[in-house]
Amino acid sequence: MSTVKPDKYAVFGSPIKHSKSPIIHQLFAEQTGQNISYDAIEVSADDFIKSVNTFFAGGGKGLNCTVPLKGLAWKYAENKSEHAEYSKAVNTLILQDDGSVYGDNTDGIGLVRDLNNNQGISPNGKRILILGAGGASRGILGPLLDQLPMSVFIVNRTVSKALELANQFAKKGMVSGCGYADLYDKKFDLILNATSASLSDQLPPLPEGILGKQGVCYDLAYGNKPTAFVRWGFENKAEKSLDGLGMLVEQAAEAFYLWRGVRPDTGVVIRELKNRIQ
Ligand code: ATR
Repeated sequence: MSTVKPDKYAVFGSPIKHSKSPIIHQLFAEQTGQNISYDAIEVSADDFIKSVNTFFAGGGKGLNCTVPLKGLAWKYAENKSEHAEYSKAVNTLILQDDGSVYGDNTDGIGLVRDLNNNQGISPNGKRILILGAGGASRGILGPLLDQLPMSVFIVNRTVSKALELANQFAKKGMVSGCGYADLYDKKFDLILNATSASLSDQLPPLPEGILGKQGVCYDLAYGNKPTAFVRWGFENKAEKSLDGLGMLVEQAAEAFYLWRGVRPDTGVVIRELKNRIQ
């Protein structure tokens, strides 16, 4: 009896040991009956091109790329979706029939789907503050602005980066850049933490009183314990203070759809992951 070999997928990044992507894609595959394998592989920026070439030459069909590789994946992809092109960050690579590699970024759509579908929070008409002006912010700005918020502020320690990013996306909606000291007289309905501060349990220097009534906090990062920013949200009476687990599953679902043409049910996978974390 012959068994059909699974199609090969993986996530590249560094550090990658604690990635939840393999378990998420395994759950998607079981649920949808897709025959795939999905590994987490430690790849540094220096080894990126060689590792991607080897992966695809060895029969790989698609890759996710995470920190610190999204900018390199953007450079690597020969063709990209309009949104990925604009964001200068790619988290999903797809080997196409003609042998070329296509790049997309599913982070922003993942965030917007988690907010709208799982959390019941529509970004439409909201005053939004994004903390950080790095790759994570670039990845979410396009899909977020497509939701027509009232305004988006990007705040960053290095103010010039916030101004540059706001300028880059100015054609797509009401977006401005500023420094943390400029926030004291402003109020927001939704504050998104897209800094890498959570990785070291640090908190950006947020003034008090910037979260509006029934305001929501959302950390793009997630962990086994509430992040420093999620705790800040609770301390500042946020109506909801959420981590990025739902976004992680939703961005993975979009990548799975791009690769396999099948959309998994994300709700059951989010619940399963929460059970496993507790
Ligand atoms: P990523 O790809 O995860 O976005 P990045 O491009 O290195 O990573 O960007 C990290 C972001 O987190 C930057 O906006 C950084 O601010 P600076 O540009 O001023 O360095 C922000 N950041 C990191 N640690 C922070 C901290 N403790 N407080 C506030 N912002 C922080």
